[in-house]
Amino acid sequence: MTDAGILEAPYRGADIKIHGPEGFEGMRKAGRLAAECLDMLTPNVVPGVETQYLDDLARNFILEHGALPACLFYKGYGKTVCISPNHVVCHGIPGGRTNLRLSEGDIVNIDVTVIVDGGWHGDTSRMYLVGEVSPKARRLVSVMYEGMARGLAAVKPGARMGDVGHAIQAYVESQRCSVVRDFCGHGLGQVFHDNPNVLHYGRRGEGEVLKPGMFFTVEPMVNLGRFDVKVLSDGWTAVTRDKSLSAQCEHSIGVTETGFEIFTQSPAGLFMPAGL
Ligand code: MF3
Ligand code: CO
Ligand code: CO
Repeated sequence: MTDAGILEAPYRGADIKIHGPEGFEGMRKAGRLAAECLDMLTPNVVPGVETQYLDDLARNFILEHGALPACLFYKGYGKTVCISPNHVVCHGIPGGRTNLRLSEGDIVNIDVTVIVDGGWHGDTSRMYLVGEVSPKARRLVSVMYEGMARGLAAVKPGARMGDVGHAIQAYVESQRCSVVRDFCGHGLGQVFHDNPNVLHYGRRGEGEVLKPGMFFTVEPMVNLGRFDVKVLSDGWTAVTRDKSLSAQCEHSIGVTETGFEIFTQSPAGLFMPAGL
């Protein structure tokens, strides 16, 4: 009855895949390319730039590196990246009506996912500051990054997914900001959106037990006002209901024996905006 191949990674434990060394290798390659794509965009994120131009740059970069843009044609999405300025929480469409061009003073998230050889997905996003940005907008972006750091710091074997969400929520709310409930992080690997759901709020000791070899994203969305979100009639663009500013960043990570490995670290050190 026992098949020699049946326990080879990835196998499913409690419906969350556990990956082996080849998975880590694939994710390093995918994660690095996704991060390099966001690095490449950095000098182009300037006042007046057309968001469609940024999407074109990202698509060409990914294709030139022999990879595929995961979002293009994903569930009917027609672009390579999501570009979400100011009160757009996530899934802003390049060339869309809420973000045709970027303007001086905008804070903007750009989110990219690539698929490399072997089908591995690298999914990452970060904030960019467009020209001079107001102190309150900078504060939101800082709070969001610190929340992310605290969530990641909770990742280790034996910890629970709720520990991660709790760490993010506790910090963000202590700074009088809010954590979006309607979108979450996700397992990924050779599948784009897989189990588990990674909530960016929660209670300590609840949720899945983390194990070495699990791959998932952490991608908190943090609002200056209330956490409520609505999706516009384009079916994608999510905005804050109270029109308050929103910020997000995202890493793809793997749980290791001692903690976690970030697959989407920026080779140029640009994950956080300069001078934040
Ligand atoms: N990259 C997004 C995420 O973090 C997913 C975007 S789906 C799209 O999971 F279709 F909008 F591109
Ligand atoms: Co993601
Ligand atoms: Co993403």
